[in-house]
Amino acid sequence: MSAWRGMAAGMVALMAVGSFTVGGAAQGKGDPKAGATLYKNNKCATCHGDTGAGDGPQGQKLKDKPTSWLAGGGGLKGMDDQKIFDSVSKGGTAVGKSRAMPAAPKLSDAEVWDIVAYVKTLAK
Ligand code: HEC
Repeated sequence: MSAWRGMAAGMVALMAVGSFTVGGAAQGKGDPKAGATLYKNNKCATCHGDTGAGDGPQGQKLKDKPTSWLAGGGGLKGMDDQKIFDSVSKGGTAVGKSRAMPAAPKLSDAEVWDIVAYVKTLAK
């Protein structure tokens, strides 16, 4: 079927993009601009809010509500880059936080570093 062939081609293209991203970013040096897109596309804002104020509609329904990163960093306070990385990649429980914070195992390391860089620009 041609539809199936198209899908296979698409997957090959995706894999090529993925490996390019992995090779392109050094550890700890994420790109905040790419991170902003990833933050949008991975539904982080549904809990943490568009600006990191912790006011996303999904977050409001949680028992453990996300904190606002805007005032003094909120829950980000005292977290180093590696800890922020782990919380995104492995979820809240990996860093002693709420299990309401989901892991993002589908993101590559480079993508998570991009998100780390972006999240840090939100914390004021
Ligand atoms: C279902 C809601 C939900 C989603 C979706 C979600 N988070 Fe969270 N996140 C939380 C909650 C709740 C906490 C706070 C846990 C705590 O304080 O114990 C948290 C904590 C964090 C932390 C640690 C700092 C802090 O404020 O405690 C980071 C960083 C973070 N989230 C980033 C992200 C990113 C990036 C995404 C998208 C890939 C994401 N989150 C998606 C709910 C969510």
